[in-house]
Amino acid sequence: MTDSSETKHKLYIETVGCQMNILDSEMVVADLRRRGYELTDNTQDADTILFNTCSVRQHAEDKIYSALGRLRLTKQKHPEKIIGVMGCMAQKDQGRIFQRAPYVDLIVGPGQLQQVPDLIERARSGERQQSALSLERTAGAAADIRRSHETFDPLRDPSMRPTPFQAYLRIQIGCDKFCTYCIVPMTRGPEQGRPPRQIVDEARILADQGTKEITLLGQTVNSYRYKDADGMTDMADLLGMLHEIDGIQRIKFVTNYPKDMTYKLLETIRDLPKVSPYLHVPAQSGSNDVLKRMKRGYTVEDYYAMMDRIEETLGDRASVSSDFIVGFCGETEAEFQMTVDLVKRCRFKNSFIFKYSERPGTKASEHLPDDVPEETKKRRNNELLAIQNVISEEDNHRFLGQTVEVLVEGPSKKADLAAAAGTPIQLTGRTHDDRIVVFDGNPRLVGELVKIGIYDVSPFTLLGTVMTEHLTMLV
Ligand code: SAH
Ligand code: SF4
Ligand code: F3S
Repeated sequence: MTDSSETKHKLYIETVGCQMNILDSEMVVADLRRRGYELTDNTQDADTILFNTCSVRQHAEDKIYSALGRLRLTKQKHPEKIIGVMGCMAQKDQGRIFQRAPYVDLIVGPGQLQQVPDLIERARSGERQQSALSLERTAGAAADIRRSHETFDPLRDPSMRPTPFQAYLRIQIGCDKFCTYCIVPMTRGPEQGRPPRQIVDEARILADQGTKEITLLGQTVNSYRYKDADGMTDMADLLGMLHEIDGIQRIKFVTNYPKDMTYKLLETIRDLPKVSPYLHVPAQSGSNDVLKRMKRGYTVEDYYAMMDRIEETLGDRASVSSDFIVGFCGETEAEFQMTVDLVKRCRFKNSFIFKYSERPGTKASEHLPDDVPEETKKRRNNELLAIQNVISEEDNHRFLGQTVEVLVEGPSKKADLAAAAGTPIQLTGRTHDDRIVVFDGNPRLVGELVKIGIYDVSPFTLLGTVMTEHLTMLV
């Protein structure tokens, strides 16, 4: 509990990685704030420094190890400062983190985050190099491994989010797909759906706190399933339950797995107006041989069949985006060209393109040589990105002259924040299908759903003006 007579602890927290990590950091900060901590944005003022880390690519780890390196002298001068490493890299590297940075006080896996406040307390009273980690995936009975990957979701604190009217909600933890390149099944543990009751209760709390848009999170979110005495609840059923909650106006969900994009789910998306028709469904490659080496569990033909189902059910309301890995083990030029063909045929709203990064502990790192030269990876990355950008811009063109509904998120990067009160500034928001829209408007529009007329587009944004009549008066 907060004790106002004590001087407040000051927490600096840096978060890298995916939405799961952003949500985890929100929970940890909410927990610490309840115990009297306040946030600071620099490590000098902080008495507690936490890193929430990611292992998905080498680059994400390098960033954290160099940040830790920069703290070596700080910790020598101020041994009382507590330094903690949480998240996926903590789970993956375990004690190796202490070897590289012996002055780190705690390492905490993504399944142990509820222990962070206690671990910090113990570190303050002199316990050094503590760790709280989940069992590795072969280190015990299935049930024990599952239990060691606990979720930590009940503490919702709207002030901890970039915008109080938008929130992530975890519906599934872990992953059992074991794609050969991927570390996530090792760091986040077995796939487990959270009970639907818990999810709905949490969504109600979020709605009561003023949340208008929730984004459901899972590594393969559309594979969500939960079985109990009442029967089986799948993703479509869950969307139906969440759709009933007053106050929630938009429901998004990431990341989808192609094979589980069923007609039932697509028809549910079509029939429930609050559910976003934005579908992020990573393809990873356009070559069947590469998909096989990746052990993705589907073929290019399966992916096209899914695109057809989406088209058939949602028509041009749907916007689909994808992830790709270029330069995966043994990827030939011909195989890469098949990915180019897939991108051209599917015409994604946007794609995230990554150069393959070998991850120790994965099947690919054990059995497949990382043999595509860095230069080739870079060139393929740039080539695919250039093609995707042309498609993104062409795709955005159909919005010229149209009116779209936007949830206003806040000032744009270019906004003149020094402008006098009441003066319009440049704002940014997103459409229901996740397109970024930039327009001038009164800052009071932040958090509102507003109609915007589109007059210009780029590959990444729609530019527009506020159209809603009664709101125009505010501008
Ligand atoms: N669960 C999600 C993705 C999680 S990781 C899914 O299955 O789609 C996010 C993205 O990072 C992946 O889609 C993949 O494109 C990329 N990625 C994962 N491991 C990688 C690696 N070793 N090297 C490069 N990119 C990787
Ligand atoms: Fe990684 Fe594959 Fe699981 Fe996604 S589905 S988290 S890429 S193992
Ligand atoms: Fe990274 Fe872990 Fe997310 S490895 S991408 S933070 S699940």
